[in-house]
Amino acid sequence: MSQKSKILIQFDSDRHASVFDSIVAIDAGIDHLLTHAAVKPEDIESLVHGAMFTRGANDLQHTALFFGGNNVAATEELVRATKKCFFGNLRVSLLSDPNGSNTTAAAAVLCAQNEMDLGGKNITILGGTGPVGQRIARLIGGAASTTKLPSSIRLGSRSLEKSKGVCDSLTELTGFQFSPSETSSHDSTRESVHDADVVFAAGAAGIELLTEGWISNDTAPAVVIDLNAVPPAGIFGVSVTDHAEKRNETICYGAIGVGGLKMKIHKQAIKMLFQTNDSTLETEETYRLGVELNR
Ligand SMILES: NC(=O)c1ccc[n+]([C@@H]2O[C@H](COP(=O)([O-])OP(=O)(O)OC[C@H]3O[C@@H](n4cnc5c(N)ncnc54)[C@H](OP(=O)(O)O)[C@@H]3O)[C@@H](O)[C@H]2O)c1
Repeated sequence: MSQKSKILIQFDSDRHASVFDSIVAIDAGIDHLLTHAAVKPEDIESLVHGAMFTRGANDLQHTALFFGGNNVAATEELVRATKKCFFGNLRVSLLSDPNGSNTTAAAAVLCAQNEMDLGGKNITILGGTGPVGQRIARLIGGAASTTKLPSSIRLGSRSLEKSKGVCDSLTELTGFQFSPSETSSHDSTRESVHDADVVFAAGAAGIELLTEGWISNDTAPAVVIDLNAVPPAGIFGVSVTDHAEKRNETICYGAIGVGGLKMKIHKQAIKMLFQTNDSTLETEETYRLGVELNR
């Protein structure tokens, strides 16, 4: 059995490679981290060939790739370019978590599922057009997270057109019929959540989506998950550290409350990369790993 050191190569589409992702990788027990920032799709082939052709076929499982970056679409393009470089068993494992979107969405869905079976329920995802919101939607609406599908999944956006476009692409991906929802005002946002059993607030950092009084209202849902860590909270009254905190009749999770599980998933995902040379961890695979960790 080879004792080669574990090398993780971090590809980031941003000008600087994410310090957060680098530290998580080191804490997950890798031996060496090589970081590449501002990576473009046209750079990928020679970088990935460097990972594939250096250590010999039997040692490929000791080299792995991580993809990050704030621009999720740009990072996903790097992943697509990388997959084209692999052939046969000549490949290395990869984890994609642009802007933390896959690990965060997985942890958020699991926190909600810890409180209730989402099958047959009404779900609203505020800020549902962003990377995290879209991934929450596809995990719940796809077959990944539940055998019985929710009754409805509403995707909130300030623009109905934008919400419709995202719903259509998610329907194409999963087969589930998502419901677009315009949430440009306080009234329309409250309308979007009025019959929800679970509300995910996945709006941009520091943006309050549901204002004072909502959480104490009779119509507040059974579970809320607010992923915004930057004050003010995405949902007034939810604390960033809430972890299954009961406020009136509503069970609340804040961003740090979800973050513990997210970090656990991220570190375990890095460790998994070095078990074989052919793992691909993206949205659904990351969620499935979270299910194992959450048992
Ligand atoms: N806990 C963690 O570990 C963790 C990790 C990653 C991310 N996060 C947090 O999770 C949340 C979602 O992340 P993300 O990357 O998906 O967010 P994002 O792309 O920055 O924003 C999500 C959506 O928020 C809406 N939005 C943007 N600016 C707004 C404004 N001024 N007013 C109202 N809505 C606005 C946009 O939707 P429309 O244009 O369609 O309205 C956007 O698609 C963020 O708060 C982020 O900080 C937490």
